[in-house]
Amino acid sequence: MTTQLADTPADGLAPEPAAHPLDPLSAQEIREAVAILKRSRELGETLRFVMISLHEPPKPPGLDFSLAPVPDRAAFIVAYDRAEKMLYEAVVSLSRDALLSWTGVPGRLPSYLAEDMLAIEEIVRADPGWQEAMRKRGVTDFSLAMIDPWPSGYYGPQDHPATSPRLCRPLTWLRSAPREHGYARPIEGLVVTVDMDARIVVDVTDHGVLPVPPNPGNYAPEFMFDQANRPAFTGLREDLKTISITQPEGPGFDVDGWAVSWQKWHLRVGFNPREGLVLHQVSYDDRGRIRPIMYRAALSEMVVPYGDASPTQWNKNVFDMGEVGMGLMANSLTLGCDCLGEIFYFDGVVNDSMGEPVVIENAICMHEEDAGISWKHTDFRTGEVEVRRLRRLVISTIATVGNYEYGFFWYLYTDGTIEYDVKLTGVLTTGAVAEGEKPRWGVLVAPGLYGPNHQHFFNVRMDMCVDGERNSVYEVDSVPEPDPALNPHHNAWIARSTRLETEGTACRDADQSTARFWKIVNPSVLNELGEPVAYKLMPGVTVPSMVQPGSAIYDRARFVQHNLWVTVYDPAQLYAAGRYPYQCPEPQGLPEYVADDAPVTDADVVLWATVGAHHIVRPEDWPVMPVAHTGFQLKPTGFFDGNPALDMPPSSPGGACHHHG
Ligand code: NI
Repeated sequence: MTTQLADTPADGLAPEPAAHPLDPLSAQEIREAVAILKRSRELGETLRFVMISLHEPPKPPGLDFSLAPVPDRAAFIVAYDRAEKMLYEAVVSLSRDALLSWTGVPGRLPSYLAEDMLAIEEIVRADPGWQEAMRKRGVTDFSLAMIDPWPSGYYGPQDHPATSPRLCRPLTWLRSAPREHGYARPIEGLVVTVDMDARIVVDVTDHGVLPVPPNPGNYAPEFMFDQANRPAFTGLREDLKTISITQPEGPGFDVDGWAVSWQKWHLRVGFNPREGLVLHQVSYDDRGRIRPIMYRAALSEMVVPYGDASPTQWNKNVFDMGEVGMGLMANSLTLGCDCLGEIFYFDGVVNDSMGEPVVIENAICMHEEDAGISWKHTDFRTGEVEVRRLRRLVISTIATVGNYEYGFFWYLYTDGTIEYDVKLTGVLTTGAVAEGEKPRWGVLVAPGLYGPNHQHFFNVRMDMCVDGERNSVYEVDSVPEPDPALNPHHNAWIARSTRLETEGTACRDADQSTARFWKIVNPSVLNELGEPVAYKLMPGVTVPSMVQPGSAIYDRARFVQHNLWVTVYDPAQLYAAGRYPYQCPEPQGLPEYVADDAPVTDADVVLWATVGAHHIVRPEDWPVMPVAHTGFQLKPTGFFDGNPALDMPPSSPGGACHHHG
């Protein structure tokens, strides 16, 4: 490890003034950070830039940046030297025009480089061993082959990042024609291993020829209707009437740089190559008092373990964030398609492998939605009716990772609820079976074609600050009255609150049988009823992890073993499966973070919520998957003194929401 300070000026590349310490790096700042690094160190020609993002400043006193000196504006650079096979981390101060640190990280490998993504397909396509395997299957036109660069995972000491080349294990599919559905025709049994730095195929293992499934399985309209095998679709529907979402007075939110206010909510939006969308400083204006709730919230990792023992499927265990990057894979969103109504877009800035900024236009979509009824009552005696609509602010981004699309949606509601919703769509990664056979570990979706059993787990890190930095977390279970003397009618039940005391014991699981939730409490701030103010984390549909002890993914993805983890704030702890999970067997991230078993009571607590989607594939998930959801809600529980949406005005100008029946 070495640290150097630069003293030469920035060649006219002075950083543009940043509006706020939490704003993502601009394209110009990324250029500037790379220029400072290059000026400060001799970098080899084989050095590549993995990710360049804001080096976030420490939390200011009272969580208020206006009360503190302006922090250094700095960039965090992850770089990788292909020839040295060495990972580096750099912190570059833009304010001081200096390289603050340059640190080698031996024994770890980076996530994919932007330049790897398409290069691997060409490397495999040109390999004689792979070509031979394709010829065995009667394929001679290799241009129709589609090769997905699956991260290698870790399946034995030969894969260990300290000694192994940086590997990936691409899988092959075959299009029926250019631009047709890529995943309809898997080349089953063919596993390729690529050394991504040497840019060579190091192994081709052919587990035997299975027929390529016969059907193209398209979903784009230009291909869909000439397929005799899809009689359910005879043409696009012609009876769909127009729906227009209009806000004649304009959108209801205000945007100032990356700061957003909408209704009583205030927050800052952020974006980086690894996490994609980040929310900062989420707070609520309660009758003139700005009350903080969350200091920072972002996806911290995700993993998709496959439950299929067949040779092409068993080692699909991808960490789509830590091995690839959600921001790097973010889509440019389109009005009227991805988002409907009065939209505000934020661009996302990422980097390419040479350190040049890449702007993803419209990477984050923000708009307002009617969300149904907020509250209603009819007094049946007087005929008095009061009904109010619920609104929500939607802040979303969609990433394409190979075959799948993941939509990450934050909702802020007019009743104080915060919701996180992951929308899973895109295309199944498929396998083939011999004609007439049924897959043991999956479901047929077309002749000879199946979707393997799998799960998707997402962990969201939320640095909580409910009415201030010091919070405690309680687990609340609903149980029958435990004292028989107090329960003569056998009907009574209580909500039993148990405070979570330490990091090591605060690894908790959802429990439907007790309607379990977790309460994030500020013990120092009481509501009008004398109770500590709180928000509760309500897991949505939870799924049991099918990841089994003894499997290669078990230790790598420990975060899926619990629905809730609680840690004391540490700015270096951001990722549920660690900073560099690529090919790494050791348990990283949360198991390391909780190892010291620090107390978590009346502390600066961080919640880590794991939610999952259980995917026993349906034929209806083919050829493209209808959106599936997973997520959670954070709901005020004694945070307010009453219904915070009581002041929502009747929405109908004619008074129909507020009338005598
Ligand atoms: Ni799935």
